[in-house]
Amino acid sequence: MAPSVTVKLGGATLLAASAFAASPSSYGYGHNSTTASPTPTITSDASYSSTTFNASAASTYLPLTDFSNEQLAFLWDQVGSISTAAIHTTVSPTPEPSVYPKPGYLHPLVPAYVSEVESAKLPEDFLWGVASAALQVEGAVDAEGKGPSVWDFIPHRWVNSIADNSTADVAANQYYLYKQDNARLKALGIPAYSFTISLARVIPFGKGPVNEQGIAHYDDVFANMEANGIKSVVTLFHWDTPLALFNSYGAWTSRDIVADYVRYAKLIIERYDKYVTVWYTFNEPQYCNWRFSNYPYGTLLPSYNGIGNGGLKAEFLCGHYTLLAHAEVYQWYKNVYKGTKPMSFKNSANWILPNSTSAADAEAVTRVNDFNMGWFGGPWTDGDYPASLRSTLGDLLPTFTQAEKDMIKGSADFYALDGYTANVAAAPPNGIAACAANASDPNYPTCALTATTYADGFPIGPNSDPGATWLWSTPGGIRPYLSFIANKYFPKVASKGIVVSEFGFSDPYESSFDTLAQILWDLRRADYMQGYLDNILAARALDGVNITGIFAWAIYDNFEWNSGLSTKFGLQYVNLTSQERHPKASMFQFLNWFKLHGLDSTATANITAPIGHKRM
Ligand code: NOJ
Repeated sequence: MAPSVTVKLGGATLLAASAFAASPSSYGYGHNSTTASPTPTITSDASYSSTTFNASAASTYLPLTDFSNEQLAFLWDQVGSISTAAIHTTVSPTPEPSVYPKPGYLHPLVPAYVSEVESAKLPEDFLWGVASAALQVEGAVDAEGKGPSVWDFIPHRWVNSIADNSTADVAANQYYLYKQDNARLKALGIPAYSFTISLARVIPFGKGPVNEQGIAHYDDVFANMEANGIKSVVTLFHWDTPLALFNSYGAWTSRDIVADYVRYAKLIIERYDKYVTVWYTFNEPQYCNWRFSNYPYGTLLPSYNGIGNGGLKAEFLCGHYTLLAHAEVYQWYKNVYKGTKPMSFKNSANWILPNSTSAADAEAVTRVNDFNMGWFGGPWTDGDYPASLRSTLGDLLPTFTQAEKDMIKGSADFYALDGYTANVAAAPPNGIAACAANASDPNYPTCALTATTYADGFPIGPNSDPGATWLWSTPGGIRPYLSFIANKYFPKVASKGIVVSEFGFSDPYESSFDTLAQILWDLRRADYMQGYLDNILAARALDGVNITGIFAWAIYDNFEWNSGLSTKFGLQYVNLTSQERHPKASMFQFLNWFKLHGLDSTATANITAPIGHKRM
């Protein structure tokens, strides 16, 4: 299928550029001629005009003022036909089993990694649980007045952009099964759930009226979490930008997004603050909604703000407006609303090893850190970007006013790290300086090479599913990384604390298993859980890093963005036909670890794992 689409906006219809390539004859003027025709003489149409169409030259925003049902229907037509789940009304929970099937003595759980912390305990107020994101688990994407997000659009309209051609239309159907899911969390003794709110469910067009049904849904979700005694850790935005904002002004490449996001954030915070334990404004701004490359999808969506087909300009505009939006919400929350809950944003970053002891490789490590966590490090520094970004990127990097820097500086109560893996970094063969001075260099602007093998060629750890080629199990990296963040990179973080807000693993080829017997003993994920948890605890108990929380990704299998439904990250398996969930061995590994390290569990289920936790 050709990647063209009809975009209906404000009653007008925009056609992809190719659709305008018709010669005048196809309008019925003149004859069906194959010879080059001269400028036609128009006699029958007084309003005739012509132009050269070029979608990527779009510069005039389309005003978003029509919030009618018809307009919502146009938006969904832009996405295409949505699949509906067999279960499409809210389900009441069924009783949880008193004991779950779990690993037995023939293959016990994975032994401890760090023997020195085997008896270390976590404090009573340590926050832990499992995590998810609305787009990845909710399903019901067009139900009850929700508007489409760009992540509804991509799987449907960007041909072959999702590895397995799946969509998030149904996913784990949490929209209807949340009561059952919360009952499961309670029964397993998981005290907190880190989940996200769908902006397009609450404000279908991203601006304009609030959707009453969407709000009623989240009202009930919070009430149900409260009834089950599960703490809510809430991310306001996890990449699912309303499609209407792309159509109107190019979403995160426009400063207009700041006001629209802030309005939404205030609305959610004012309504739900009393239920929430921790707020995150953004998930992993480093990826800017996964869409800085090819933003805004070639010719599928209008290209505003001079970003052409995306790339660096889009990436750094997106990061810029994200930081401003975050900081504005933070300052309002603390200084105007007088909110008392901790607030931060989640960072995607990893421990980087140098490939050698050379000064050039050490600089490569610094550059990877600067272009990753340093980019969003303003809250922990002077409110600005690192000097290495400024000197390399020049005009590609927008500037903050002094007032904006002051607003960004200090605008986070703790550091939140989504720390999944590690990498080895080396300077490029032509040298960092030559690369940094040449915007056409293939390694520009980071100007560092990264690898997942050591210098001797051996892999840094067991690899993950082919849908997550970036992910290698490297538990030895998380401990020094946490110390590095707290003591060297962002020393201001040390007193405030670090939450490991996500970590998780995707076992290779899990989607090719078709029986529960094959799926449930997920050894690599279980090993990953134990290794990371032990090393995080070692950072806290032995190295003195103020770790205040841990969240595992993910509550269950879900829609892994461009890798689709077949790259599995769940501690629970989801049967995509029946929607039943089954805890995997990794879930028991995770639960058993918290049981051993001192937190009270209110579990009604017997989660005691058999032997095997001692290092042999
Ligand atoms: C972090 C992201 O927040 C989440 O959406 C994603 O599924 C996991 N990483 C795994 O890739």
